[in-house]
Amino acid sequence: MRVLGIETSCDDTGIAVYDTEHGIIAEETHSQLTHQKFGGVVPELASRDHIKKVIPMIDNILKRAQISPTSLDAIAYTKGPGLAGALMVGTTIAQGLSMAWQCPTIGVHHLEGHLLAPMLDNNNKPTYPFLALLISGGHTQIILVHQLGNYTIIGESLDDAVGEAFDKTAKLLGLPYPGGPHLENLALLGDPNHYQFPRPLWNRADCDFSFSGLKTHVAQLIASKTLTQQDKANIAAQFEITIADILTHKIKRAIMQHNVNQLVVAGGVAANKTLRDALTQQANALNVSIYFPAMQYCTDNGAMIAYAGAMRLRQGHLGENKIAVKPRWPLSELNA
Ligand code: KG4
Ligand code: ZN
Repeated sequence: MRVLGIETSCDDTGIAVYDTEHGIIAEETHSQLTHQKFGGVVPELASRDHIKKVIPMIDNILKRAQISPTSLDAIAYTKGPGLAGALMVGTTIAQGLSMAWQCPTIGVHHLEGHLLAPMLDNNNKPTYPFLALLISGGHTQIILVHQLGNYTIIGESLDDAVGEAFDKTAKLLGLPYPGGPHLENLALLGDPNHYQFPRPLWNRADCDFSFSGLKTHVAQLIASKTLTQQDKANIAAQFEITIADILTHKIKRAIMQHNVNQLVVAGGVAANKTLRDALTQQANALNVSIYFPAMQYCTDNGAMIAYAGAMRLRQGHLGENKIAVKPRWPLSELNA
């Protein structure tokens, strides 16, 4: 079975072909730089950039993989959640190609794509059921993944997502957008113990998070004195280990409460080395196997959408031939 994946939910255009026998046979990701000068994603610019990129990228991929559209079993596209206009681009192109190529479409849930991304690694992948920590720019959730399409959210952020907290704090430190990877680099130069940040909701007996206070804490520090470059690096380093502490603390609670033996960590922030190391240490201490997507499949990409589409197709799901997107789409709505 062979599926073309189209990801356009935010500011990355991702195209890939997944084949159930051979894995990913071609892929390309274009990260939009046009937003940098605005310090955040401008939705209208994102849509326009996707429009320019999607068709040439699909052409490229099919040529590079030396496959004809007639060999595709489906076209999977991100139906939501995400920016309405950006989602609309992927959806209309998928539906147009579907008519031209007589090929069915599957509307994929973006977060399901992230959750399944570690399964693209054939040599070391989780099996259902497992616990997942989803940490992206828009979402922070702890999810019990019972089966494909059967999810229970047992904890989530009550305000900012982890990626959002990274990006907002990075902006306060004068770093370019998206700030997560820049903050990670700056933190390497800092002393993580010079400052001590609060750990919100630490003592609450649930698996929820709150991150919005961290950027306020950093904003107050910045307002209190003129920061040297070393101060900024120290703030970045303490910020990173604060996030690592909070995530490992709540994940430990979730693992103990739900008695699971596999943990998946997915989403753009799963690319962060400090967080990977802290979560790996915690999982090892609890005798839990831990799985991350390959680095290129942490942030948004077409491969995870092609893969999720193929798994859905195998389950007998086929999308409707209509142009409809779901900018807001709770993962639990997927439950059969
Ligand atoms: O999953 P993703 O590509 O998009 C969403 O679905 O939101 O995640 C993007 C987020 C951004 O907030 C970005 O700053 C963050 O992931 N990110 C990182 C790193 N790489 C990406 N945050 C911390 N450290 C990183 N290395
Ligand atoms: Zn994403």
